[in-house]
Amino acid sequence: MNLIFLGPPGAGKGTQASLLSKTLNIPQISTGDILRNSVRAGTPMGTRAKLFMDSGSLVPDEVVVGIVEERLQAADCNNGFILDGFPRTVAQADALDVMLARLGRQIEFVLSMTVDDEKLLTRISGRRMCEKCGKGYHLVFDPPKEAGICDLCGAKLYQRDDDKVETMRKRLDEYYEKTAPLIDYYSQKMILQPIPGTGAIEDIQNSIEKVLKGSLRDNS
Ligand code: AP5
Ligand code: MG
Repeated sequence: MNLIFLGPPGAGKGTQASLLSKTLNIPQISTGDILRNSVRAGTPMGTRAKLFMDSGSLVPDEVVVGIVEERLQAADCNNGFILDGFPRTVAQADALDVMLARLGRQIEFVLSMTVDDEKLLTRISGRRMCEKCGKGYHLVFDPPKEAGICDLCGAKLYQRDDDKVETMRKRLDEYYEKTAPLIDYYSQKMILQPIPGTGAIEDIQNSIEKVLKGSLRDNS
């Protein structure tokens, strides 16, 4: 299954994509995670991307399109993939169509999550990430068993540089201006599937699995 998670910063795309990736045994492709890894590694692409990310702006389309194009050709995508945080502009969505056509693939569902701004800010300000494996937590809603330590790999948790309130507002503005139009874009293609953005993480996970199971039954 080839899927996209669409939603504003803090909507829970990464949280749900990671859970679904384990259930379906297909990779989660997060352009944000890939970019953050490049920033840490100090590659030329990472150094360039950091300027945009730190200010809460989107990284230029050609950079992220190049990343996804390369990633989708890896063997682990043969049985499907989950795009988390891509596409984020109409130009990226058009570029994705072209690359998928070349690969003879198509997106089955765009799982669209919406959450009001106030809740997004609460989620983002309490988010912590594992510095080694990238697993995300929330200080209140999804805390690690031991404070500051990743349950999975035991490494330290950190707060993302762009998770400050000022940067967060800019990220939200970017979302409404450049990414939200994709809701209509995919709705017109009849592949948009609204998913509840609020509620317990497990309940949202169950809703997503129900939707996908229903679609598998419908197609069989
Ligand atoms: P990216 O890393 O993709 O960040 P984002 O889209 O801003 O989204 P987030 O990762 O902040 O939120 P999320 O929806 O994944 O939420 P999460 O599951 O973590 O991108 C970062 C930057 O990279 C961008 O600003 C841009 O510069 C650049 N970039 C990346 N992709 C790009 C692209 N395609 N084009 C251009 N530039 C690009 O959840 C948030 C918190 O809430 C967590 O703490 C979690 O534990 C908690 N939580 C989750 N679900 C719930 C729930 N149901 N109830 C309570 N808490 C919850
Ligand atoms: Mg994320």
